Amino acid sequence: MSMMPTRSKFERRRLLCCGLLLLSAAPALRLQTGVATAGPRGRDGDSLIGGPCDGCELIYHGMPEVLLAATRIVAPGEPGIPLQVVGRILQPDGVTPADGVILYVYQTDARGHYVPPGFAGPGLSRHGRLRGWVKTGRDGTYRFETIRPAPYPGREIPAHIHAIVKEPDKNEYYLDEFEFDDDPLLASSLRRARSRRGGDGILRAKAAADGDGLIVERDIVLGRNIPGYPSR
Ligand SMILES: [Fe+2]
Repeated sequence: MSMMPTRSKFERRRLLCCGLLLLSAAPALRLQTGVATAGPRGRDGDSLIGGPCDGCELIYHGMPEVLLAATRIVAPGEPGIPLQVVGRILQPDGVTPADGVILYVYQTDARGHYVPPGFAGPGLSRHGRLRGWVKTGRDGTYRFETIRPAPYPGREIPAHIHAIVKEPDKNEYYLDEFEFDDDPLLASSLRRARSRRGGDGILRAKAAADGDGLIVERDIVLGRNIPGYPSR
């Protein structure tokens, strides 16, 4: 008998929603070339750390061979409000920096699309157009530069950035999405429903010090609220 907690109805609905949105754009999608090695995650997600994760394997599609602790996931001129996302990835003690951890993110654009209607550019995956990777060094810090995502058009799902981590000795698992405290769609009932996987993902955006857009900060604690995570 599995010891994994069952994912809440809300979480299942949310993943399904995102999957359907991506499928609706399927004619325009192409898998990225590059490193496309399947990870250790199999279809029997219940037996793995973090439970089932539809799409976790896509972390490897197009992953650069060399990853840095900082990256930019949008091209210059991408429409939208510039957004810097910074923080640290910490060991389960919540204090010690975690070295060698990959953080993979993907998001909608400033109009709420993973792939704009009719877009057929290169470098797409089922996770869309705006995606990227960072890998921590010994100080655990990470940083990615992007634009603030918009909610899905015509839907009432808060804007978000999806996040998946890959530790050196564990399978991939997803975190609570990066969300925005000032998002009017982020109702109190939704806030209460969040699992806080890896810690709280609801973030307060501030004006960036360089005057160009916004900055949010999130420290990610490995294993926090992650089902099946080893206790030691
Ligand atoms: Fe999504």
